[in-house]
Amino acid sequence: MTTAARTPDGEPAEVPDLVIAHLSDTHLTSTGVRYNGLIDPQLALLDVAAALRAAKADGRGPDIIVVSGDLTDSGDPAAYRRLQAALDGIAPQVIYATGNHDVRAVFHAEMLGAAGRTDPMLQVFRLPGLRIVVLDSTVVGAGHGVLTPHHLAELTAELGTPHPGGSIVVLHHAPLAPVSPLLTYFALDRASRRALAAALDGTDTRMVLAGHHHLAGFGLLGRIPVAVAPSTAIRTDPLAPPGHERTFRSAGFNLVNVYREDITVSVVPVDGAQEVFHLDQDGCAAVIDAHPVDPI
Ligand SMILES: [Fe+2]
Ligand SMILES: [Fe+2]
Repeated sequence: MTTAARTPDGEPAEVPDLVIAHLSDTHLTSTGVRYNGLIDPQLALLDVAAALRAAKADGRGPDIIVVSGDLTDSGDPAAYRRLQAALDGIAPQVIYATGNHDVRAVFHAEMLGAAGRTDPMLQVFRLPGLRIVVLDSTVVGAGHGVLTPHHLAELTAELGTPHPGGSIVVLHHAPLAPVSPLLTYFALDRASRRALAAALDGTDTRMVLAGHHHLAGFGLLGRIPVAVAPSTAIRTDPLAPPGHERTFRSAGFNLVNVYREDITVSVVPVDGAQEVFHLDQDGCAAVIDAHPVDPI
């Protein structure tokens, strides 16, 4: 049984209305192919999935999983199916965006049940207390990102009607200044970034979730906060020498807690870190009891 968390001011402890596990850049390869010649991205994803399954078993599972693109490394249909299987049963809803390493037609067929659609598809999920709108920022055959005028018009039309609890917008190419030479070249083009900022300004959008940078990060798009999820497989080094692109093996995801008035984003590395301590409820109560709010 869970006891209510205690606060220093007697106000009730805050409980999120929705918990989103935000994963990105899983880069699942075809069977037998290593990602960047070194990494098995399937195993890396399964480590992240295991962390989420453990959280679910402990009563802290996410309500929604968002995976913000580069789901596969080369658009192999079997890799999309393996991704769905790896995340199956963790959350009531899983939402996928496409990335520049995906193949749009295969993504549409395998993940959206829309075989034959070749244009960017706007996905809209109107949930109780939150709307999630997913964009397609990819350019077929290229690595950089673009939001077409038609796609932005669809977004504007959707956001024209506010949703109870507000909206979160998801896209692959992070609409933020990049931190490495390759990300600078494979960026969302500046006109699209400016147009997205203009499209979101004045709407009920509370946050943008993105990927592509392979590095957890935060920023502002105009007045809208942007949270970038890390890759489940690799991590870009933002401190590589100028002009260098350097990447480390690394896994993690973002935990996005959506409250009525606030949103928090926590970066959760999945790195086999050594446990330092683990207090149960009695242990926490003992620490709290030893630290009265009004010390004598
Ligand atoms: Fe990626
Ligand atoms: Fe990407």
